[in-house]
Amino acid sequence: MSDPYFQQLFADRIGGASYGKGTSLYKFEKIKRAKRKALADFPERKLLDFGIGENDSMAPENVRRVMAEEINKPENRGYADNGVLEFKQAAARFMQREFGVELDPATEINHAIGSKPAYALLPAVFINPGDITLMTVPGYPVIGTHTTYYGGIVHKLPLLAENDFLPDLDGISPDILEKAKLLVINFPNSPTGKTASPEFYEKVVKFAKENNIVVVQDAAHAMLSFDQPPSSFLATPGAKEVGVEVHSMSKGFDMIGWRMGWVCGHPLIVQAFADVKDNSDSGQFMATQKAAAAALDDPEIPKQIREKYRRRMEKLVAVLSRCGFDCKMPGGTYFLYTPAPKGLADGTTFENAEAASQYLIREQSICTVPWDDAGSFLRFSVTFVAEDEAAEDALMAETESRLKELGPVF
Ligand SMILES: Cc1ncc(COP(=O)(O)O)c(C=O)c1O
Repeated sequence: MSDPYFQQLFADRIGGASYGKGTSLYKFEKIKRAKRKALADFPERKLLDFGIGENDSMAPENVRRVMAEEINKPENRGYADNGVLEFKQAAARFMQREFGVELDPATEINHAIGSKPAYALLPAVFINPGDITLMTVPGYPVIGTHTTYYGGIVHKLPLLAENDFLPDLDGISPDILEKAKLLVINFPNSPTGKTASPEFYEKVVKFAKENNIVVVQDAAHAMLSFDQPPSSFLATPGAKEVGVEVHSMSKGFDMIGWRMGWVCGHPLIVQAFADVKDNSDSGQFMATQKAAAAALDDPEIPKQIREKYRRRMEKLVAVLSRCGFDCKMPGGTYFLYTPAPKGLADGTTFENAEAASQYLIREQSICTVPWDDAGSFLRFSVTFVAEDEAAEDALMAETESRLKELGPVF
């Protein structure tokens, strides 16, 4: 079949005239295909799915009840634009209650339709062609993708085991710093599970001031903190002068599909974000915003979600450790990031984490996500579907038995 005339018209940022012709597969698509194949080839073998990056429960009943009420109110029918104030006020109460951070709901908080769209919009606020965004890798790539869409450049800061999974801010060369406008950090970190100490955040504030850089702290996993109480970058002295923190209702409130988040921090950056957003979308459904406000006012919700994932994580760490993996409880998130096996007892070898991950899904229906960006690691998520603790234990026992049969070598 010949190409349509517009094949030549695709923008360079998505591949230009070659768009759609590549054969290389996005990592997560590869995993999806391997999962489908494992299910088709071994229908009787249970899939042990540690690859999912989404909460396994639906939003709490009290939140769904508010949604059901709000959905019938005529005043919620229209464009929300950058409102509604009730949500901003609830977000301000949440920031104060959980982290001791004082924010003006009118000027220092703006909602987003989930945090992902906020990362797609923020580069429009700061990035001109040639400007640099400093980003930790491995990590959530969206702000980097949009940086390059605007003609900017991504400078990667690897999160290495030897640096305790923190970015080496002191090692960035002066010519990079000169052009850098954004520093994107993410704590608790996905996928490494590292949380930030107050000292590290102080260092980030100093670094930003010294180098005229704006900080964007991705707090998507903020409430899933195990080794310290949940914390906010904005609680650091001076943090509000250097940037914003982006929060999400997805992980900490079981509201993944509801699409709610917010950007908070310096009022001028929040205003600029709101201006760009106003030119991009018309705001989340007001009923959703009001249900999200109710969720933020219920401190039990994130507490219960955290304890559930902590319990599952403790079980997973114990099982993997008994199978030879070098792992300990992560600081936060529902991800366990652990060095990938180099091979198996039978002499099979893996050249990287991706090869190990593909083998595990193909041969034992154990699904993981490989990361080869800064060392070779596997990510196990504890968001698997298990209706009660007995089901969790059965899944863990099965995982242990299959892994021990393979005999991973490190
Ligand atoms: C580190 C991180 N940031 C941001 C997001 C986006 O979350 P949402 O758009 O659901 O708020 C995710 C979701 O996977 C994430 O893991």
